[in-house]
Amino acid sequence: MARLKDRVCVITGTGGSMGSAAALAFAREGALIVGCDVVSGRAEETVSQVKALGGRMVSLQPCDLTDMQACEELVSLAVREFGRVDVLFNNAAMAYFGPVDQMPVEDWHKTINEELHLVYNLIRCAWGELVKNGGSIINTASISALQAYRPLPALSHAAAKGAVLAMTRQLAMEGAPFGIRANTISPGLVATHQTVGVLGDPDMSKAMIDQIMLGRPARPEEIASVALFLASDESSYITGADLRVDGGLSAW
Ligand SMILES: NC(=O)c1ccc[n+]([C@@H]2O[C@H](COP(=O)([O-])OP(=O)(O)OC[C@H]3O[C@@H](n4cnc5c(N)ncnc54)[C@H](O)[C@@H]3O)[C@@H](O)[C@H]2O)c1
Repeated sequence: MARLKDRVCVITGTGGSMGSAAALAFAREGALIVGCDVVSGRAEETVSQVKALGGRMVSLQPCDLTDMQACEELVSLAVREFGRVDVLFNNAAMAYFGPVDQMPVEDWHKTINEELHLVYNLIRCAWGELVKNGGSIINTASISALQAYRPLPALSHAAAKGAVLAMTRQLAMEGAPFGIRANTISPGLVATHQTVGVLGDPDMSKAMIDQIMLGRPARPEEIASVALFLASDESSYITGADLRVDGGLSAW
């Protein structure tokens, strides 16, 4: 059970639901983890949980990935502690929702900054390390990048995640000569800190879950296991791909 033995894996948003699940899943497989989050408390808890498993993890918090300098500090931490970067899992993001005529214009810009620019920023900073030995970039997109979801007013989220999806294909092209693979995961509905509100609203929750073949939201661990696959050599011939992890939401 060491599918990521001694791989240096940078995971963003490790204070969040999927980021924390990924840190634990990667640690169980022998990874050396570099986490970060803009919110400190939960990120520190994740470090404690990984260490309790016998895993190795360092983490930078608060770390706001919309700030290029913070991204540089995160990459420096990885190199200083573990010598390189093998895997970059861009999981962290924050979305703001609202219909086109009701969402404040500033929320549009915040979503693009906090869902798209932060991914670019960290890739830009980590690229010089990744090209040295090759590696795997995993970017979290969303089913909203691929199709409209009637109950969710996801205009800015769809735009940002659509861009993450498109950008990742291009990264796969640019990374291939260096042995860098780049893929996206597109989750459907996942029960996380960010969906507590919608899942707590019975009408909204029913409308969203009615569209899912499996009839329930995903657990964060069900996304983390796919990230683990994309980080490992088991996916060595997969690049430029998008893996939909949506319980069948987009299949009908
Ligand atoms: N929950 C869903 O249904 C769903 C569906 C599709 C895609 N996603 C995507 O999954 C990923 C994980 O989200 P989640 O649902 O686990 O949410 P979450 O809120 O539990 O975790 C996200 C974490 O990212 C951190 N973060 C946000 N902006 C940051 C920044 N600028 N710098 C550093 N850290 C920052 C947050 O503090 C948080 O801890 C996100 O990219 C999200 O867009 C979620």
